[in-house]
Amino acid sequence: MDYEVRGALSVSGTFEVPGDKSISHRALLFSSLANGKSEIKGLSTGADVKSTMSCLKQLGVKIEQIDGIVTVCGEGKSAYSKPDSILDAGNSGTTMRLLTGILAGQGFETTITGDETLRRRPMQRIVGPLTEMGAEIVGSDKMTAPLRIFPSHRLHGIRYELPLPSAQVKSSVLLAGMFAQGETIVVEPVESRDHTERMLKLKKVKGPSGFETKISSDYEVRPAEYDVAGDISSAAFFLAAGAILPNSCVTACGVTLNPTRTGFLDVLKSMGAKVKIENVHEAAGEPIGDVTVSHSDLKGVEIGGEMIPRLIDELPIIGVMAAFAKGETVIRDAHDLRRKESDRIVAVVDNLDAMGAEVQELDDGFAVNGTGSLSGAEIDSYKDHRIAMAFTIAGLAAQGKTLIKNAEWAEISFPEFYEITQRLVLRS
Ligand code: S3P
Repeated sequence: MDYEVRGALSVSGTFEVPGDKSISHRALLFSSLANGKSEIKGLSTGADVKSTMSCLKQLGVKIEQIDGIVTVCGEGKSAYSKPDSILDAGNSGTTMRLLTGILAGQGFETTITGDETLRRRPMQRIVGPLTEMGAEIVGSDKMTAPLRIFPSHRLHGIRYELPLPSAQVKSSVLLAGMFAQGETIVVEPVESRDHTERMLKLKKVKGPSGFETKISSDYEVRPAEYDVAGDISSAAFFLAAGAILPNSCVTACGVTLNPTRTGFLDVLKSMGAKVKIENVHEAAGEPIGDVTVSHSDLKGVEIGGEMIPRLIDELPIIGVMAAFAKGETVIRDAHDLRRKESDRIVAVVDNLDAMGAEVQELDDGFAVNGTGSLSGAEIDSYKDHRIAMAFTIAGLAAQGKTLIKNAEWAEISFPEFYEITQRLVLRS
């Protein structure tokens, strides 16, 4: 599907986004390991979370969905059964990496694969530590999926210092640690999103080399009721539109305000946007609240270092905002952006360039010299949901007509995206 976007005058209104993708994957996976019935409200409607659900069903987990409530009947940590066929994680890196951590500890063989994009993404980052724990996993020559995971002959705990901040790697190792003899300790020099630790109520302590989280085989997952907060990474697109389009004001209701996820709000503020946070409360161990952003003149910022994991998924939309900010915005230390659903450094730079922005590709990020305007262009979504959505917002703020090629990829995380776009936009 190609989606045509025309310049808008402003955006205004209140909106809700689907449940947070990271929390939704974990709510399903952790419920599947618990002994008893868990209920999940507000699960993400995106295709990625559907991939987790269908892999779990193939592993024999009973999951039902009635009136928007998902019930998972877990039968404990070792109740999965050998699937009849290959597991398909679709486009979802979180499904593949977290589930492989669990499958590494099972007594049967499985193979997990994904779509063309996921089959190109690096899996050595999980296969390395899982192999160190005694798992036997075979992938392609370049250690990409399909991954063949052999039956476990008892894993053993390790101390693993993450070479790069990654919540997927951290979670994969911790999940394998539930099936390992002895303690598994994951050390993060730089903190990444901590939904796994919060949801499993794991204690995190600050050690000499970073944040340390421990788990062992006596850990039992409890059934729970999860009320999934709205996804701040989805809300970010409309919040950015509110900041760059004149006379705009938008409110995202009930989004996660977990500090490991709110780097985007800090950047909005340091660019000079007006940001108001209200109704803050806690749901299922996660802070949530309403975020209102209204237009003001933006200025360029420098983003790098420990900030990157707190906004890694928001960097494409920050690139778009930078084109409308006065002065230069420089993103550094974001090498891993090249290994997402697309090479997001190339995707952002090429598409901003097509829209007439002054943009430069850097090895570990990009630099944008804000000129205050963009021109409509044909946009390649690179079959990447966040690129399709970021450049739809760019199209709203640009002069003339923008065409988003393969716009349907937004469904990976946010199937309601184009509908909400239509609702918030004011044209005349
Ligand atoms: C995620 C972690 C991040 C993020 C991804 C979701 C998660 O990836 O980019 O969209 O749910 O754990 P990395 O762990 O590879 O940084």
